[in-house]
Amino acid sequence: MAAPPAPARAAVLCGTGSFLPARRVSNDMLSATLDTSDEWIRTRTGIGARHFTDPGTTTSDLAAAAGARALADADPSGVDAVDTVVVATTTPDRPCPGTAPVVAAKLGLSGAAAFDVSAVCTGFVYGLATATGLIAAGAARRVLLVGAETYSSILDPADRTTSVIFGDAAGAVVLRAGDPDEPGAVGPFDLGSDGDGVDLITVRGGGAEQRLSGRPAEPGDRYFAMAGKQVFWQAVRHMAKSSRAVLDSAGWRVDEVDHLVGHQANIRILNRLADDIGVPRERSITNIAEVGNTSAASIPLALDQARAAGRLHTGDRLLLTAFGGGLTWGSTVLTWPNLAGPAQSTPTAPPLSRSQSRSEESTR
Ligand code: UT7
Repeated sequence: MAAPPAPARAAVLCGTGSFLPARRVSNDMLSATLDTSDEWIRTRTGIGARHFTDPGTTTSDLAAAAGARALADADPSGVDAVDTVVVATTTPDRPCPGTAPVVAAKLGLSGAAAFDVSAVCTGFVYGLATATGLIAAGAARRVLLVGAETYSSILDPADRTTSVIFGDAAGAVVLRAGDPDEPGAVGPFDLGSDGDGVDLITVRGGGAEQRLSGRPAEPGDRYFAMAGKQVFWQAVRHMAKSSRAVLDSAGWRVDEVDHLVGHQANIRILNRLADDIGVPRERSITNIAEVGNTSAASIPLALDQARAAGRLHTGDRLLLTAFGGGLTWGSTVLTWPNLAGPAQSTPTAPPLSRSQSRSEESTR
């Protein structure tokens, strides 16, 4: 007799964490060196401030700080080993190797599988899909997924169209193997891309294309560039279409969505998205006013901050949707789990590492 099919394994969210570098840069501070104003930035983007790292602090540092909080949240005793670390980022510490192995080592997780996901602002949703697939296939049991960015390292300080929008941050979740019907189970997914839009959001230099072009690198090649106006409507259109597709796959009506967690690109994009798909704006989670667009960190940071603010309750239905360079887009849904740990606000100073905490305890 054939063996009964193995039960489906879902990726279940069991911990969250986030980290913001301490240096808060207001719109007025940017206006001191750029031809811009607090009024323009607030009206056109909804952004009032962002955080930037200081020299010497890298993406892996922010990722490890957020990751440490998510790990402690998921498992305060530190017993359940994470076997896989995924880092979604546009701003890796180095072009080669990936940043995830470095993050794993900083967290005392050397030996775990570790790799990066490169999908710009959609990176966290692509990372969720990747982690879900690994868990479903039995290739991973417990995954730390971090979205981490230091856009301050690629912004052109003279470009007012990008410098006022992006910020540095990290947000993390822990996913464990579980039951598809339990709260916290992630999925289904809708993912897509359109590489014809490669030039709309890009860093031209630093890759094979530029190195093999035979032409010397221009100074501006190392900076992030975005055709904001063209991207604006594509962001609304793709996130709305992808949101509808994933709600359809999940069998959820739009009025059943308790929280819309869209990529924090621009408050006008988030409002338009909510209006287009029919989610009341008050159900849209936004933190862009204080952190700006943090790319791959945007959704996990928004989730962790909404949780700390007491906004997310067990059983609430969440729709996550993102759009970014590539072009790429993606959406998923989950029902908010019962997370045991106390909600905490996002720190701006790194926590002690797990090994540091243990050695402190042993010397008490
Ligand atoms: O995260 C990945 C996905 N990213 C996005 O989805 C971003 C999508 N795009 C946007 O959020 C918006 O297009 C921007 C915030 C980038 C720009 O807002 P906009 O309302 O589309 O402005 P615009 O590009 O049409 O520019 C309007 C005017 C222009 O001046 P003129 O040509 O009308 O004289 C710009 O030069 O505003 C000017 N401008 C600024 N003025 C003051 C552009 N940036 C600034 C600035 N301060 N920082």
